[in-house]
Amino acid sequence: MRRAVCPGSFDPITNGHLDIIERASKLYDVVHVAVLINRNKQGMFTVEERIALIEETCAPYGNIEVEAHSGLLVDFCRERGIPAIIKGLRAVSDFDYELQMAQMNHGLSGVETLFVPTSPTYSFLSSSLVKEVAAYGGDVSHLLPEVVNSRLVARIAERRG
Ligand code: PNS
Repeated sequence: MRRAVCPGSFDPITNGHLDIIERASKLYDVVHVAVLINRNKQGMFTVEERIALIEETCAPYGNIEVEAHSGLLVDFCRERGIPAIIKGLRAVSDFDYELQMAQMNHGLSGVETLFVPTSPTYSFLSSSLVKEVAAYGGDVSHLLPEVVNSRLVARIAERRG
């Protein structure tokens, strides 16, 4: 089995993430989507909610496994025999930090990082920007799967009370 991992916070998953996961799913037998838990960041969605949204939206691809992980990404890879990390690159601004992480991860464990150029349609897209626009009442429905958009709108309304 040829395995790869698409890691991230996925708070929440966007059409940009799905573009990368779908393309990875065509290159590998199994694509693991790792939801990395960052204790210093309070999310909009719980890790369980993020996983449920990823499972639902990635179901059509047929070869996706979704799991949470707290700790180093290289340990997630080592424990599952995953030799490759797939990352989307949106713009040059992503490159510096992504290169640092790729080099660090390779030095730690020999795992390779493969960069996939994001579709230009989503080159400006990030979960944090989507949350900010939605919080101010902006329409982000064209940037998210329908189920994610409706959960996001509902969550923002709940928080407003
Ligand atoms: O969606 P994000 O928040 O941009 O994803 C960043 C993520 C989660 C992929 C990155 O922070 C990560 O790999 N975290 C896991 C902890 C780790 O391995 N840190 C060392 C990276 S060299």
